[in-house]
Amino acid sequence: MIIKQFINKKSSTLTYILAKSRGNEALIIDPVFEEIDVYLEFLGANELRLMKAMDTHLHADHITGLGKIRNITRCMTLAGEQTKMEIVSQLIADGDDITIQGLSLKAIYTPGHTSDSYCFYMPGFIFTGDTLFIRGNGRTDFQNGSSADLHDSLHNKVFTLPEDTVVYPGHDYKGENMSTLGQEKRENPRYADHTKAEFIQIMDNLNLPNPKLMDIALPVNIKTGSGINDGIPPENILDFEQAQVAINDHTLLIDLREAKEIEKSGAIPGAKHMPYQQFDAFLADTNHPFAKALSDNQQTIILYCAHGERSALALKALLDKENHSISHIKLGFSGWKKSGGDTCSSIDTL
Ligand SMILES: [Fe+2]
Repeated sequence: MIIKQFINKKSSTLTYILAKSRGNEALIIDPVFEEIDVYLEFLGANELRLMKAMDTHLHADHITGLGKIRNITRCMTLAGEQTKMEIVSQLIADGDDITIQGLSLKAIYTPGHTSDSYCFYMPGFIFTGDTLFIRGNGRTDFQNGSSADLHDSLHNKVFTLPEDTVVYPGHDYKGENMSTLGQEKRENPRYADHTKAEFIQIMDNLNLPNPKLMDIALPVNIKTGSGINDGIPPENILDFEQAQVAINDHTLLIDLREAKEIEKSGAIPGAKHMPYQQFDAFLADTNHPFAKALSDNQQTIILYCAHGERSALALKALLDKENHSISHIKLGFSGWKKSGGDTCSSIDTL
């Protein structure tokens, strides 16, 4: 197992790259904009393919690297369903499994530091973002933070996990890099030996100044996904009405989401399933129906995903190589459903 921790000294942010082993798929938690080259170097040196980039919450103290690393690697971006970020590939809900090759993380919704905060857990390790630091925790005085919610998240969720679970926090200001849940339960001065009321009183009397970058970081981070359609000709981007007209019996309509997303919310009737994670492999395999459809050039191809990010990334990769008639549905299945488009509960694999 690879768990590589990086530190951005300016914001004391800790970032993590996870993978089963060298040469496998990887994911990154809380990447920082200025550090992308460092992450790319590590990924390259270990022959890792970055598949997913996620933020534990909307950050106020640094510019997220989600958009930049997505544009370079074509990885998916993920954030909690409560996020204000404009586009992410996949919105995470409490209890969701986030999977890459050989590795699965459980998303735990832990509001308190902010109302969109998540921890990510796998047996033995928890990535706590700003919900829990080493002998501390994130502030609760902005972005819909709540010290009562944070106490509940820690008491009812995080601290119910095994005590020997290693804690990898989202920040450390004192040069520490890991702890365990048992240590934090017993020694965290904000939590140990305090009632919920006392914890709330401590948190509500911290009187911290706003983060230096707050006014810059928040608006930039909210817009991190915008610009996803830059570089795609307008005629290849379909809104709901255009998609309805364009989809007919001869269209090859491709759903790029993961199987569990389709199971949860349905799909567009007649679509074929081809998960984005295997997109590059399918493209390279000349016997795969998708590669064949591209080379036959007989059918109009329309791509969609959940919110229009994966389909835009796939389309850009294809437009670089192909002059085939291929487009994507701008707001994905979520936009389709919101506009009242027909849905079905399951679709066939391509
Ligand atoms: Fe934070």
